[in-house]
Amino acid sequence: MTFDRSLKIAPSILSADFANFGAECRAIEAQGADWVHVDVMDGHFVPNLTFGPATCKAIRPHIKGVMDVHLMIAPVETYIQAYADAGADVITAHLEAGPHIHRTLQAIRATGAKAGLALNPGTGIEAVEYLLDLTDLICVMTVNPGFGGQSFIHSQVEKVRKLRAMIGDRPIHIEIDGGVTPETAPLVVAAGADVLVAGSAVFKGGSVDRPEVYGQNIRAIRASV
Ligand code: DX5
Ligand code: ZN
Repeated sequence: MTFDRSLKIAPSILSADFANFGAECRAIEAQGADWVHVDVMDGHFVPNLTFGPATCKAIRPHIKGVMDVHLMIAPVETYIQAYADAGADVITAHLEAGPHIHRTLQAIRATGAKAGLALNPGTGIEAVEYLLDLTDLICVMTVNPGFGGQSFIHSQVEKVRKLRAMIGDRPIHIEIDGGVTPETAPLVVAAGADVLVAGSAVFKGGSVDRPEVYGQNIRAIRASV
């Protein structure tokens, strides 16, 4: 993965047809998705359950580009190698998932994957400063994690602006996750974000039989910024 700050749309397959992940991944990439975002939930760190490493491994051959795995699990370190072996290009862990996020980011990089650091809406940015040299992506949660289709939390736009200033010239992506639509995307891109996760806003109205709707939805987000 080479670093650049161009806008990337990362559809979350949390909003895809769960009986058809392979075809859904192929469809969104064919319709202009840049990355594929996989939301891993454990029913403990967040009140919902989704994909284990075996599912990620099964999906991997259907993704040509970047597989972006967002771990909403605690403990997290136990599972890093399994998701790396499943083919994740980016592995993101939450700052709130345990006391040793520094070690977690080191462990992610040791697998060869890019290391992502996610922040819940209630978390400040002070703790990020001493983690910057270990971080390839900061994921700003603009909803409380656990479910798709929630409303964007506007107070996070200021957080994005502050993080962008803190990052300076370092090659670190700012990813936005939750409530991204053509209405909210321009706010976070203006504040410095370059990766937009979007679940419901990409998948709504479409299907593998009507993939052109995914394309329209992706283009609507791109055109809004
Ligand atoms: C929330 C997940 C998000 C979510 C986004 O816990 O991390 O990736 O699926 O869904 P939308 O775009 O529908 O808010
Ligand atoms: Zn996510």
